[in-house]
Amino acid sequence: MDLIIKNGHIVDPSQGIDFIGCVHIKNGLIIRIEKAVSAVMPEITPPEITKVIDASGLYIFPGLFDMHTHLREPGFEYKETIKSGTRAAVRGGFTSVCCMPNTKPVNDNETVTEFIVKKSLSEGFCNVFPIGAITKRQEGSELAEMGMMKDAGCVAFSDDGRPVGDSLLMRRALEYSKVFSSPIISHAEDLSLSNDGVMNEGYLSTTLGLRGIPAASEVIAIKRDIELAALTGGRLHIAHVSTAGGVRAIREAKRDGIAVTAETCPHYFHLTEAEAVGYNTAAKVNPPLRTIKDVEAVRQGLIDGTIDVIATDHAPHHRDDKICEFDGAAFGISGLETAFSLSFALVKEGVLPLNELIEKMTIRPSQILKLNKGTLKDGADADIVIVDLNKDFIIDPEQFVSKGKNTPFGGRRLSGLPVMTLCKGMVKYHFNNSIIMDGI
Ligand code: DOR
Ligand code: ZN
Repeated sequence: MDLIIKNGHIVDPSQGIDFIGCVHIKNGLIIRIEKAVSAVMPEITPPEITKVIDASGLYIFPGLFDMHTHLREPGFEYKETIKSGTRAAVRGGFTSVCCMPNTKPVNDNETVTEFIVKKSLSEGFCNVFPIGAITKRQEGSELAEMGMMKDAGCVAFSDDGRPVGDSLLMRRALEYSKVFSSPIISHAEDLSLSNDGVMNEGYLSTTLGLRGIPAASEVIAIKRDIELAALTGGRLHIAHVSTAGGVRAIREAKRDGIAVTAETCPHYFHLTEAEAVGYNTAAKVNPPLRTIKDVEAVRQGLIDGTIDVIATDHAPHHRDDKICEFDGAAFGISGLETAFSLSFALVKEGVLPLNELIEKMTIRPSQILKLNKGTLKDGADADIVIVDLNKDFIIDPEQFVSKGKNTPFGGRRLSGLPVMTLCKGMVKYHFNNSIIMDGI
């Protein structure tokens, strides 16, 4: 079965492509990209052989790749399931997500990994790559069976949601990361400094009477893990960077040739701690929203390449976990359905060129995880998103297909709407039948 997406503006940083053209797909794979407007007309192409999607006026990118998602299944299906989370992913333009292991039970063995892989294949709307726990039950005391999980399909290891407090265990994990050539993803936090804090520590936390998490909690943990990466030669990836000090430490480490990569999330380059005013639990997230200086530093890190990846840290929660006092509310923001347009705002503001933004949301995360995704190269799976960059809309969490409606971005006017998402050449999401398709 052939499929042609014609006349769209194709941007594929993995091949330096940035032109108007057509993507040819056969049996779910990309077979060719052609520059210039195609002469292919549905009436001269037998419809039973070729389907044509007209992407005139639209952009075509490799399907977005989120290396940091919480799908909540098994165990927290009331917050999200593999089905609802991957549906949210394709609505947001993502064709691949990596799911963090803080489920119930924790994904710390091959049985849980296999469950996630199987369920994703049968119910998922997109590719799901599990991330295994570094330590058993994410308790930080004993290494999990990383080798078995790798064989079952895990692409990286992390205790995300919690740091690995024990430096020797982190050292061992980084040593193993070399054997498995899978990165260790650090949730960089010094829990003793966080001290059960619920927002950024500063003047504002004092005036609100809330316990603060100092920036140092993140910076110290990042610096420790960088030292351990230098010691071991292991592959370190820093999750959700939120502080100026963290960006600085990663920049220096990269300059020193240490194998470290990093991600941030849209809330860290758009929002500050001020969102917590009024005890707005939608803005409670870990690491917490910081100061305007941190926001500027995170943006600078994106510009100069210190921060390789934009991930969502999609952390869906049930209403009941958020409609409560700030101290008791769950940490997290539901991010899959807003990440692209929030990130595209950086292009509109002149912070990043479009191709660099797409690189950070496609090929970079895929490279870090050594996967053949995030590209429109010949022979790759036809994982594609078609986006209307001119479409303005207002974020309405009630329209989310994720079970988690928890976002501090509700009501924000944005542009850049994913209008069609294809996985392996199959249409998995289509906004309002907005694109004309012939033969489908
Ligand atoms: O805000 C957060 N939510 N940060 C984390 O580290 C974990 C996540 C979750 O699982 O809800
Ligand atoms: Zn997370």
